[in-house]
Amino acid sequence: MSEEQWSAVDAFIEDQLLPSDRELRAVLEASSEAGLPSIQVSPPQGKLLNLLARALGARTILELGTLGGYSTLWMARALPSGGRLVTLEADPAHAEVARANLESAGVADRVEIRLGPALETLPQLVAEGKGPFDLVFIDADKVGYADYLGWAHRLSRVGSLIVADNVIRGGSVVDASSDDEASQGIRRFYRALATSPGLSATAIQTVGTKGYDGLAFILVTAEVPDA
Ligand code: SAH
Ligand code: DHB
Ligand code: MG
Repeated sequence: MSEEQWSAVDAFIEDQLLPSDRELRAVLEASSEAGLPSIQVSPPQGKLLNLLARALGARTILELGTLGGYSTLWMARALPSGGRLVTLEADPAHAEVARANLESAGVADRVEIRLGPALETLPQLVAEGKGPFDLVFIDADKVGYADYLGWAHRLSRVGSLIVADNVIRGGSVVDASSDDEASQGIRRFYRALATSPGLSATAIQTVGTKGYDGLAFILVTAEVPDA
């Protein structure tokens, strides 16, 4: 089966289930015009994040890796009134495009973009007593995923859901001797998942417009044990 077929099926799913949406389309257009890489979640994946947030009744959402704010907008739309989303982004140019996009989409009042490497902004959130977050979406640099998982756990409560993107990477995740830093980062992430008390997880392989990749779903079953 080919990438062409996977993309045709994603287009079919979009056509059948995801009515054309002016704000979401505008985010993609403005991001592309600004020269951002087109690596955001696919429309069906964005809708999945939106459905999960609604099913959880999430009032607080944390995202790692904003890019132009496309996944941010899908999740922000799921928030009830008074709900809040914090999204972390290291690249000032990306954060600026996202800020304008989220403003135009009418969700800026619910969303806070924190500029800086996540390994700096995550401890700040903890220090400020932010959280617990009902839903966390990890989608920043893959090298940091194992560390991000630990911070996400600290910023969660029992019953929170953590979702992580890009955990299959074309299948390269099974290659223990891969010289790809990102694949090694994802392998460390699985090891952290497997050895963290209080996290119950699975990963699902996916195909579509983003090629062969996958998502991890992690339920928080207990708080981080005291150090
Ligand atoms: N979640 C977005 C896509 C994110 S792409 C969507 O689906 O719409 C990954 C983003 O993570 C990029 O914007 C990149 O600049 C950002 N990033 C990379 N390293 C980071 C770090 N250390 N801390 C925070 N963000 C980082
Ligand atoms: C890349 C990052 C992502 O989060 C993604 O979903 C696809 C690609 C990347 O950095 O290439
Ligand atoms: Mg991703």
